[in-house]
Amino acid sequence: MGQGCRGGVDSGTGARDDPVSDRFARRPVMSSCDSDFLDRLPKVELHVHIEGTLEPETIFALAARNGVALPWPDVATLRAAYEFRDLQSFLDLYYAGASVLLTADDFRDMAAAYLARAAADGVVRAEIFFDPQTHTARGVAMATVIEGLTRALDAARAGGMSCDLILCFLRHLSEEEAIATLRAALPFRDAFIGVGLDSSEVGHPPETFARVFAEARRHGLHLVAHAGEEGPPAYVWSALDVLAVERIDHGVRAIEDPALVARLARDRVPLTVCPFSNVRLRVCDTLADHPLKTMLEAGLAVTINSDDPAYFGGYVGANWRETCRALDLTREEAIAIARNGIEAAFVDEATRAELRARLDAAIAAG
Ligand code: HPA
Ligand code: ZN
Repeated sequence: MGQGCRGGVDSGTGARDDPVSDRFARRPVMSSCDSDFLDRLPKVELHVHIEGTLEPETIFALAARNGVALPWPDVATLRAAYEFRDLQSFLDLYYAGASVLLTADDFRDMAAAYLARAAADGVVRAEIFFDPQTHTARGVAMATVIEGLTRALDAARAGGMSCDLILCFLRHLSEEEAIATLRAALPFRDAFIGVGLDSSEVGHPPETFARVFAEARRHGLHLVAHAGEEGPPAYVWSALDVLAVERIDHGVRAIEDPALVARLARDRVPLTVCPFSNVRLRVCDTLADHPLKTMLEAGLAVTINSDDPAYFGGYVGANWRETCRALDLTREEAIAIARNGIEAAFVDEATRAELRARLDAAIAAG
């Protein structure tokens, strides 16, 4: 197990029972990399699940709008339930929260709220996951999901944000269902740029989805997959070698396998790391134990992302500030992470050059 991350010995201090914010608050004040500088950095967010941006207040507002009954009496009770033991305990709540999404307006409003918050955090490029199976299983049409999300993205693009959608398959369901989902989405092929793989990782290895990823690839879609979050390094190997993904989502457990680290470093495979998520889902004990700095030092192309910000205590700006502070990252390390995001983005070269220029300008401005 790497760097006190997952399986690390419990210190016995009771830190595992503290609210995550208390654990962050104990970290030393950042030395060479101040939070004003981080706030001004143009950021690329490559790992955010749009359903994970539904704030409890929005879940209640949409439930009222749509006449959906919720299992929690009020917002405070729902928020109080955000104490997760592991990925599955989170997913159970995340899928329950998503049950309020019924109309295209719901999907548009959810995505518009995320995009506004991301813009306020300095996000200039966002690649946004969505889980159509969570909705089609409840009778919501694929067209409703995609059209609603697309309306929000089009509005954000008109405001100067670069953003796109990535369709994720739920790995706790079968590959046949993933194939049916891909085919149901293909009439909207231009609305998304890639496919990913999420949900319950352990027991659902990437190679199970080889055929659907091959089919997506034939349609010119980008390929990514969650691997090495709770699952072992073997899942990262098979995501690379069997699925042929271009990026690994999470990948923190790769640090346990030196040969895998060498492979990821050699090929500069981007890893979309989500520090708050890893702490809240008990992949790591604390932010100070997070392997991100070790991964960076090992030559891995790490990026910082929020995953499910409404559930994990903060959006991407907070992930940047608190992680850099907890790990005492230097300004140069923060810049390297920001550059990794730009190089990892699925954008054309003109857009990439523009993103590099914006980052260089922010660095020059200090
Ligand atoms: N892991 C796997 N599936 C998910 C996650 C995650 O962190 N968030 C939303 N779906
Ligand atoms: Zn994720």
